[in-house]
Amino acid sequence: MILVTGGAGFIGANFVLDWLSVSDEPVVNLDALTYAGNLENLASLKGDPRHIFVQGDICDRELVDRLFAEHQPRAIVHFAAESHVDRSIHGPGDFVRTNVTGTFTLLEAARGHWMSLDEAGKAAFRFHHVSTDEVYGSLGPNDPAFSETKTYEPNSPYSASKAASDHLVRAWHHTYGLPVTTSNCSNNYGPYHFPEKLIPLMIANALAGKPLPVYGDGQQIRDWLYVTDHCSAIRAVLAQGTPGEVYNVGGWNEKPNIEIVHTLCALLDELKPDPAGSYTRLITYVTDRPGHDRRYAIDARKIERELGWRPAETFETGIRKTVQWYLANQEWVAHILSGAYRDWVETNYAAR
Ligand code: NAD
Ligand code: TYD
Repeated sequence: MILVTGGAGFIGANFVLDWLSVSDEPVVNLDALTYAGNLENLASLKGDPRHIFVQGDICDRELVDRLFAEHQPRAIVHFAAESHVDRSIHGPGDFVRTNVTGTFTLLEAARGHWMSLDEAGKAAFRFHHVSTDEVYGSLGPNDPAFSETKTYEPNSPYSASKAASDHLVRAWHHTYGLPVTTSNCSNNYGPYHFPEKLIPLMIANALAGKPLPVYGDGQQIRDWLYVTDHCSAIRAVLAQGTPGEVYNVGGWNEKPNIEIVHTLCALLDELKPDPAGSYTRLITYVTDRPGHDRRYAIDARKIERELGWRPAETFETGIRKTVQWYLANQEWVAHILSGAYRDWVETNYAAR
């Protein structure tokens, strides 16, 4: 079996669902259920003996040791993190705790377990670390896309804490020989994306007739990847990746934010027209994010060349599926719009 951390969040839940749709290998899913963790994402697995959910913190060494001892996973896929840049600006402490100390705790527990294995078990074991392209910093308009050898230049508390975790993972391989792999992926989008991030926030606000808050001039560029393509990339790295190697994962879809917002409005105008007029009327420019990275772009040639991975979705097919999913699952969004989430909206947008 495999141990997944953060499997009740956006990408982790998609990964668990995807994994169990193509394999019968059971998953132990360790998740603290922070504001971003949502068991509704995994509702379709209710009663499925292949999914064992454990509510707990990756910083809890005793618990993680117990899970390794009880379940003897052959691999760990580590998603658990604080993941929202704006939250990291308002409160960086949780990011250092979960992303840095949490990853350290998992590495130490994994190392203890790995040391107890025989030679064959040791060689087969994997620690896969899920990271982000944001560790590489910000690109100018004509800079080449991030390759795996790009220097680390993180600019936000989020990306700095992820960069620190990447360095720990690298060091546990070089120093102790732990068979680790790391993937640095671009911005994901798709089902179960928490509505604090650009795409689900815009869809939710548009449907509620609320302003669509575009930071700064809206010309910041992100490289978008449909979430199940990220899941297939991680499966490929787990199956065929070389220990100690890093793989950049991206969709070859660089888009300025304002173009994303216009695309969402056009799809909503088509699929759920508003009698009050086009959703574009709701676009509102607001104060920029401090230290806002201008452009990210991923050079995903290594994973294609070495592991034969390519995304299955284009941006056009993926974004249409995403809007259709949100229209069909408005109850999922409604359940998230809890008191705690409304407090966040007040903190982030009231003074903008
Ligand atoms: P998310 O915020 O939606 O989910 C994070 C999950 O981790 C939640 O279920 C949460 O409850 C859990 N968690 C948080 N702290 C925990 C702790 N201390 N112990 C146990 N569980 C804890 O995040 P996501 O967007 O699904 O991102 C998952 C991973 O992928 C992160 O490591 C992130 O850095 C990375 N990543 C995300 C993107 C993206 O576009 N969202 C892109 C590249 C990489
Ligand atoms: P986000 O989804 O928070 O991902 P990240 O910051 O990790 O790339 O934001 C994506 C882009 O959209 C980023 O450039 C910030 C911008 N953005 C807005 O313009 N308005 C918003 O309300 C949000 C949440 C993001």
